[in-house]
Amino acid sequence: MTDCLGDGAGDMTPMDLYEKLTLQGETVRTLKTEKAAKADIDAALQLLLKLKVDYKQVTGQDYKAGCPPSECSVSQDNGPAADGEDMVDPWNVSTTSAKGVDYDKLIVRFGSSKIDQELVDRIERVSGQKAHRFLRRGIFFSHRDMHQVLDAYEKNKSFYLYTGRGPSSEAMHVGHLIPFIFTKWLQDTFDIPLVIQLTDDEKYLWKDLSLEDCHRYAVENAKDIIACGFDVNKTFIFSDLDYMGASPDFYRNVVKIQKHVTFNQVKGIFGFGDSDCIGKIAFPAIQAAPSFSNSFPQIFKGRKDIQCLIPCAIDQDPYFRMTRDVAPRIGYPKPALLHSTFFPALQGAQTKMSASDANSSIFLTDTPKQIKNKVNKHAFSGGKDTVEEHRKYGGNPDVDVSFMYLTFFLEDDEQLEKIRQDYASGALLTGELKKSLIETLQPMITSHQERRKQVTDETVKQFMTPRPLDFNF
Ligand code: TYM
Repeated sequence: MTDCLGDGAGDMTPMDLYEKLTLQGETVRTLKTEKAAKADIDAALQLLLKLKVDYKQVTGQDYKAGCPPSECSVSQDNGPAADGEDMVDPWNVSTTSAKGVDYDKLIVRFGSSKIDQELVDRIERVSGQKAHRFLRRGIFFSHRDMHQVLDAYEKNKSFYLYTGRGPSSEAMHVGHLIPFIFTKWLQDTFDIPLVIQLTDDEKYLWKDLSLEDCHRYAVENAKDIIACGFDVNKTFIFSDLDYMGASPDFYRNVVKIQKHVTFNQVKGIFGFGDSDCIGKIAFPAIQAAPSFSNSFPQIFKGRKDIQCLIPCAIDQDPYFRMTRDVAPRIGYPKPALLHSTFFPALQGAQTKMSASDANSSIFLTDTPKQIKNKVNKHAFSGGKDTVEEHRKYGGNPDVDVSFMYLTFFLEDDEQLEKIRQDYASGALLTGELKKSLIETLQPMITSHQERRKQVTDETVKQFMTPRPLDFNF
């Protein structure tokens, strides 16, 4: 074998090589995040590739982040690749392409499956409902085991939904609404229970915030989530800081998961380093535990076999790759997933909308005037520099943020297609396209704010009290 490090890779055990590869992956990620010189990144990548070749020679297997050589039991679940163009994990989303992340590549890298037309048709057939626009337009684009969920549903076996929010601030942005809008549609369509985890503990561990603030944000965010229209008789919302102490069954599952995941695995999956606090290292088990129905004995009467379906954006997948790896080893079904693309930042699809940058986001608290100003001032345009050029050559809807936002929120397929064609031909100007977006967003956000005003503290308490829901298990 070649001695790629000059320190005798041939003498290294598979575990030594695995650890070296994991560290090198981290180095590449850090260099990319810090926008280091291209030559440095290329050199680090070369070394990473060489280590991968050595690893394959020694173990006969491809290196998989999060799967140490002797423990790897899930072959198709790749961890985040350090050698791809796009960076996607629970904390960072970035790409160099103005069209956004290459989601087809991500499917291959993460080992998930594409939501193809056949699956969309099947969801329509099984549910008897027209597919949601997020499915029709490929916004929910990837899945794990959705066919299995539908097979069981056709045999009258129920399932439940699980999604969540990390309450890092009082105000949520419209990107955060995407999984909740879709979850509401799934709940209405399949008539199933829903649990929503508010990870106030996660935000305390990751951000410079007090426990009190994180818990307060959880309650405030719960109001926005409730304002999406969830049915209190079918939905349980919980703060980790409250529920961990209140539910022995939930904590038992957390501990079981913690026992079955090694530090090496979480390092590989999440990129944790030696200076990360131990709370972070243990946290993934807390996000995994709601995937198992016996974490909620008040709803599922202690049953552990009810299948869970998790709608979320694909940044959360690392948590659930880990969960799916652990599930069979602790005697539980693997959760199924539906992944969405990212709602882009106003400045362009190179990053997702993020609550930490006010100018990148439309918040659920924005006034109609703020929405208008933000769109007009910041929304990246695919139009040409002058009206004459635009009329002559047309605009590019594939990189235009206003058009992208309309694909998320404009219900009418024909109207959307007409806007696309008119913009591409030059018949529709950027100002006119932005006006359409403003006129779509303003009433949407205003009515969300009106619904939120109706959500009282008493309503929040009802949703957040552990209790049976209107289902018989
Ligand atoms: P958080 O608060 O970062 O995000 C909440 C949900 O919104 C999705 N999301 C987005 N979707 C589309 N476009 C965007 N720009 C965008 N930004 C965020 C996230 O994928 C997520 O679904 N650790 C989690 C909380 C959590 C959770 C879960 C999420 C706990 N359990 C189960 C999903 C499923 C978090 O901090 O999410």
